[in-house]
Formats: sequence, C-alpha cells, structure tokens
Amino acid sequence: MPPITIDLYSDNAAPAAPEIMAALARVNVGPAQPYGQDPESKALKTTFSDLFGTEVWVMPVSTGTAANSIALSALTPPYGTILCSDTAHIETSECGATELFSGGAKLTHVAAKSGRMSADALDEVIRRAGKGLQHRSQPAAVSLTIGTERGTVYPVSEIARIGEVARKHGLHFHMDGARVANALVALGTSPRSVTSDLGLDVLSFGSTKNGTLNAEAIVVFRKDIAEQLRYRLRRAGQVWSKMRYGAAQLNAYIEGGLWLRLAAQANCAAKRLSEGLRQVPGVRLIETVEINQLFAEMPEKVIAGLEADGIGLGRRDEGVRMVTAWCTTTEEVAHVVGRARLHGGVGLGPFS
Ligand SMILES: Cc1ncc(COP(=O)(O)O)c(C=O)c1O
Repeated sequence: MPPITIDLYSDNAAPAAPEIMAALARVNVGPAQPYGQDPESKALKTTFSDLFGTEVWVMPVSTGTAANSIALSALTPPYGTILCSDTAHIETSECGATELFSGGAKLTHVAAKSGRMSADALDEVIRRAGKGLQHRSQPAAVSLTIGTERGTVYPVSEIARIGEVARKHGLHFHMDGARVANALVALGTSPRSVTSDLGLDVLSFGSTKNGTLNAEAIVVFRKDIAEQLRYRLRRAGQVWSKMRYGAAQLNAYIEGGLWLRLAAQANCAAKRLSEGLRQVPGVRLIETVEINQLFAEMPEKVIAGLEADGIGLGRRDEGVRMVTAWCTTTEEVAHVVGRARLHGGVGLGPFS
C-alpha cells in the first residue's frame, strides 16, 4: 500500500486546528496552578454555562471512552443497566469500559434503525426490563449518541421524547456527544435545545475529532452528579495536573463559534463527497449523510483503486465508511470522487 495522502478512515486522523495550537502556545508560558486551579480551567465553567444557558460543571478528560464510561458510572448502581442503541459506541467499541467503571452494571440494547433508537422502542424495552425484580439488572439510565455511529442525527423532537421516556421511568439521561458539534450544525439548533432544555443529566462533550488535541469533557447539568464525579474522575486517573492545556483548548474551541465552523466544514465535505460518489456505478449510499460520516456499498475495484491511490477509508462488511474532518478540502473531495469515477469506469468527468 502506498502512504496515505488523504485520510477518510477517521476524523481522529485529522490534525489539531491552528486556533487550538495557538491557544496551547498562549498558555504555555510560566507556571500555573495545577489540577484545575489555573485561570483557564476556572473559566471553563463560565464558557460552558453560557453555552448551555444554565449552570454546568465541566470536567476535561482525555478520551471519549473516559467521558462516557466515567459519566455513566455516576448514573447507575453496579446492579443497574443502561439502555442504549445496539450500535452505540459504548456497546460496540469501548471494551466494556462502562461495565468496568460502574462496578458491573450492564448495557441493554434497543434495536436501532440508521443508528437511532426510537422513543417507543425504548419505552417498550424498559417496560419489559423487569424493574423491581430481584433477578434482573435494574434500568438506571438512557444513553443516546446525538451524531450517531451511522452518520445520522436524532431530530430534536425525538431526543425530547427519549428524555420524556427516561424521566417517566425515573432514569438518568446521558448523551454521547463525540460529534456533538457536527450534529448541532446538521440540526441547525442551539446547544441548550438538545441538552439543558430537555432535562439531560450529563453530556460527553467531544472535541478531539473536530480539531482539538485529546481534549474531551464531561459536562454535568446537576450538582449532585458533579459532586460524585470529582472523586470518580480522580480514581480513574482523569484529573489532569496540567489542566491549563486541556482547558485552554476547550475555551478556544467554543470561543467565537470555532467548534461549529470546524464542524460545518467537515459536514459540508461529507455532503459533497456523497453527491459525487453516488454517481459512480455500483456505489450506493447506505445511510443518509447528515454529519461527517458516509456509509456506502462500493464495488471492490473502486475500493481497492482508492486504497492504491493512497486514500484511507474504512472497510466494512457492507462496503465502506468514509469520514471527513474539519480540514478536508474541496480539492481533496474532488480528487477522491475523480479517482472513484476512474476506478468505476466512467472517466473523470465534470465534478465541481
Ligand atoms: C460515537 C462515539 N463515541 C465515543 C467515541 C470516543 O472514542 P475514544 O475513546 O476513542 O475517544 C467515539 C470515537 O470514535 C465515537 O465515535
């Protein structure tokens, strides 16, 4: 295989944005109080409380898995179960981290279509879960991924309904926001409209995929949950001594809407890519492209051709996954589409 020149394997392959590197350089001067006592770390509370229109508690962590699993550990007893879609990252890709940090809670799946569970299906699964039965893990929380693992988003109305179902059954409500900026751009709505306004308890706020450098955050909407998370995070080794660096990134990420600008670029690139690729014979989009991920059936000769060109993509049983990032350019998209057309036997053709 040649070296990869355009990487659509994952948005984690993208570099950090220049504004983020500038923020790091800005705080990399002289001493600063450790463990969150520096000015940047203290400013996080105001930055995020303003963003969500309510008082929140913000805890930087280094990975999305840490955010999800440690947040969820505060929302369930060890004998609890967390309801999530069967495609949820916490189920498929975190190696049992939630089960570990919760001290043994389990995950219960709700069948998803295009990455989304419905409020009705969730309600039905909770009703059959055996609440109060000593033999069964007790429903404790619902976890929803707003920008789903299948490149779709939940409509605001469905998030609201899911929140209502959680509340009706007395369960906590958690959101995996690994691609929350991409989802908000796609929905064209405000951060509070899908979180604080809907009674969300905790958000795993992702930013690494969208231009920061290993700076995720747990955003907590309830003081009592924030209180216990302080200790859970320390135990899990996620209280950073040099927190100024993570905090400076997160403040800069939000400042002036950088996070939404970066996400808009990634979403736009994915949309253009999907429009170009769908014209290649044998290529069929499996999911509607709503954020920055594309799932498609693709003839083997096209997949292999793109790989031989040094274009990184993710092979899947059903075809490929391609993920754009904040830095994917119009030229790169045009190049990938052009090469796919060539490998698909239709010549370069016009694509603008
Ligand atoms: C939906 C979702 N949640 C969480 C994560 C966080 O994963 P990581 O622990 O690799 O940062 C990812 C990363 O791929 C993701 O796609």
